[in-house]
Amino acid sequence: MLLYVVLVESALELVPQQLWSERSVLSSAKNKGKHPSQILLDRSLHHAAMLKLKDGLRRGRPDLVHQAVLAVTGTPAYLKGEVKLYIHTYTNLVLDVLEGTRLPKSYFRFQGLMEKVLSGEEGSRLIKVKEMGFKELIDQVNADSVIGFSRKGVLMKPEEWVSKFVKENSILAIGGFPRGSFSPAVLNHLNAIISIHEMPLESHVVLSRVIYDYERFRRQT
Ligand SMILES: C[S@@+](CC[C@H](N)C(=O)[O-])C[C@H]1O[C@@H](n2cnc3c(N)ncnc32)[C@H](O)[C@@H]1O
Repeated sequence: MLLYVVLVESALELVPQQLWSERSVLSSAKNKGKHPSQILLDRSLHHAAMLKLKDGLRRGRPDLVHQAVLAVTGTPAYLKGEVKLYIHTYTNLVLDVLEGTRLPKSYFRFQGLMEKVLSGEEGSRLIKVKEMGFKELIDQVNADSVIGFSRKGVLMKPEEWVSKFVKENSILAIGGFPRGSFSPAVLNHLNAIISIHEMPLESHVVLSRVIYDYERFRRQT
């Protein structure tokens, strides 16, 4: 029994071509000695330029993705090899993180690694990138249950959602974006949408809680 944790529509991408000639983008690329196409889109640096982007408010938060990744990779279930992590991005790439891999705790190093991996350089043998939508990922892992988490879902106790929806090959889908809800391309493939609290929470908080709930209440095989 392996649990697939998918960070969906994550705000992690290289600067799109539309913004390559923006001043803030040119300046951060120059500081790194890279081409604008090789650096991460980052709201803290490119805020004004990002106002021109479609869905700009949902994109360019690699810091948030970093926190979410660390929340998963620090759990006992992940360390024991019971959890597999995928990062699905806004632009429909899937980063397949090799089981048991610990990603850098330093944000600076995480950023460098993601820039290499997304630029197609040999960043790490531990992360593979593929062009893939959420539906294709579900098919690839042959999931028999796809559980989405959202404040707008059905408020359930941990033991209730785990016993009702966790099966042999389950996906837990948590948004890797700062605002808004899942897009229809994700919503249409969820078997259940669960709320774990009446308040909107950060992805890393939701991830640590739902993995802990899974550890406590899953059916022992
Ligand atoms: C920063 S939130 C996205 C913003 C959105 N306003 C929200 O509240 O869902 C990141 C993700 O955490 C999860 N999440 C946030 N609050 C939640 C809650 N109360 N119950 C279940 N999942 C939640 C959702 O998967 C969401 O996409």
